[in-house]
Amino acid sequence: MRNNTDNKSKQVKKSIVLTPEFVAENIYQNLKRFPFKNIIDIGCFNGSLSKPFTRKHNLKRIGLDITKEYEKNFDIFILKDFLETTKEDFKGLNIDLVLCNPPFGINKEKGELYPYLFIQHIFKVFGENIPVVLIAGHWFLSNSNKRMKYLNNANITKTTTLHKNTFSACNVSVESDVIYFNIKQKIVHDFLEFEKPKQKKQKFKTVAFNEKQMIYINNNIKNFSGIVKKLLKEEYKDFPH
Ligand SMILES: C[S@@+](CC[C@H](N)C(=O)[O-])C[C@H]1O[C@@H](n2cnc3c(N)ncnc32)[C@H](O)[C@@H]1O
Repeated sequence: MRNNTDNKSKQVKKSIVLTPEFVAENIYQNLKRFPFKNIIDIGCFNGSLSKPFTRKHNLKRIGLDITKEYEKNFDIFILKDFLETTKEDFKGLNIDLVLCNPPFGINKEKGELYPYLFIQHIFKVFGENIPVVLIAGHWFLSNSNKRMKYLNNANITKTTTLHKNTFSACNVSVESDVIYFNIKQKIVHDFLEFEKPKQKKQKFKTVAFNEKQMIYINNNIKNFSGIVKKLLKEEYKDFPH
């Protein structure tokens, strides 16, 4: 893992909006024919956006975030504020594709949308021709003359309009797009219909007790699941509440 050198502690919002599987898969299907070898997922969190790319052989998946909960999901992980990175941080990684689903809102310090700050910084660090897939709120494309001028000069090769319920699994309703830069595509604009998240089947674990133990449990233990949870918590400190 490459570490944050200035050791700034960052408050990571609990409300992280994850890329749903069907969006990540759609991006992957668009890009799988390209021979990308070293991809970076910027603001990666658990890697939902770049996960389908793990199906490609000999591909290195690099993750970068200000939280390191899921660093093990990546071949290389960089714990750093992306907006404070320099070319040096990526030296030797030969990154040939950037995937990025940044926060959609405004960075109050800079008075700018995060997607705008991220895309400018991506081109600064990796060069203007780097292939990029950026997910952003729809207003990123349309509510500022300054940004529109910038985007007019950027090489947008495709946009995919997402349904406003796309992020409903995270309780968010938002108009948004997937924006491709510098990646030649046959279709330059399309719409991705919403797919409801598949309900995961609950898996039950069974524990076998003998007859005497069952009688004891039935007669003496009132809050059985509470006791099991307490024991698990004692044994495994990271057992979730
Ligand atoms: C919208 S979530 C996307 C998570 C994941 N990439 C996905 O698509 O499911 C944005 C992520 O960006 C990270 N993030 C926010 N500001 C950042 C910054 N300045 N540098 C690096 N990561 C940042 C957050 O910690 C969060 O994990």
